[in-house]
Amino acid sequence: MSLDSPEFSRGALLYQGKAKQVYATHDPARIIIHYTDGATAFNGLKKAEIADKGVINCRISAFFMEKVAAAGVPVAFERNLNDRDQLCLAVDIIPVEVVVRNVVAGGLARKLGLPEGQKLPAPLVEHFYKSDTLNDPQINESTAVLLGWAKAWELRAMHEYSLRVNSVLQAFWNELGIDLVDFKLEFGRVSIGSATAVVLADEITPDGSRLWERSTGRHLDKDVFRRDLGDLSETYRELYKRVFGKTV
Ligand code: CDP
Repeated sequence: MSLDSPEFSRGALLYQGKAKQVYATHDPARIIIHYTDGATAFNGLKKAEIADKGVINCRISAFFMEKVAAAGVPVAFERNLNDRDQLCLAVDIIPVEVVVRNVVAGGLARKLGLPEGQKLPAPLVEHFYKSDTLNDPQINESTAVLLGWAKAWELRAMHEYSLRVNSVLQAFWNELGIDLVDFKLEFGRVSIGSATAVVLADEITPDGSRLWERSTGRHLDKDVFRRDLGDLSETYRELYKRVFGKTV
């Protein structure tokens, strides 16, 4: 699917991320997120190019952003312009990342000495300070409010939206026999007249999620790259096929 748009094209590079670039457009209220094939882990220490990862993530994120928007979560995503470019509202990113967990894995297992795979009795919502130099340390909501990173009402909205996203994603993956173990979300502020609203920004992709096939325990996410479990390009192609019912 290619929705080439004559009206919006990439302007100045505003931000060079690890797997994405952000560009200005002629409209100051909109940006373009460009998905590259780059993959990094351990805060950039491990790097690779993964064939077609950008195209796969661009489409998967659009698919889920539309789904959560339909469930009432305001999103910055507007539409895909082509295979790798996504038109979004320009937001002021809130430097507090939200991780939702349904099953113990990764950082939580390491920190608390819990076995990976242990089911949590309810979704656990965690907060991390978005800082590459500090390696995204875990914080709590009081820290975020006290240091002025987010207002209490913004954190409440983020919490509610994160749980709603979890319900939507969990239901979807469940149907496919895949457990949604955890995922990370980022939010931003948009101005509507003199008011500010919180919207879901960034991406919903297997780069920022853990997805385990229920019948085999196979990892269908970026842990394949982080933990050298196999070929990430092949894994993402397989995931794409399960989501869209066709090859990329
Ligand atoms: O990945 P790691 O074990 O270091 O951290 P985690 O806190 O267990 O990660 C929880 C979830 O958030 C996983 O699905 C990660 O892919 C995602 N995450 C992310 O997308 N970006 C980060 N900077 C940290 C975690």
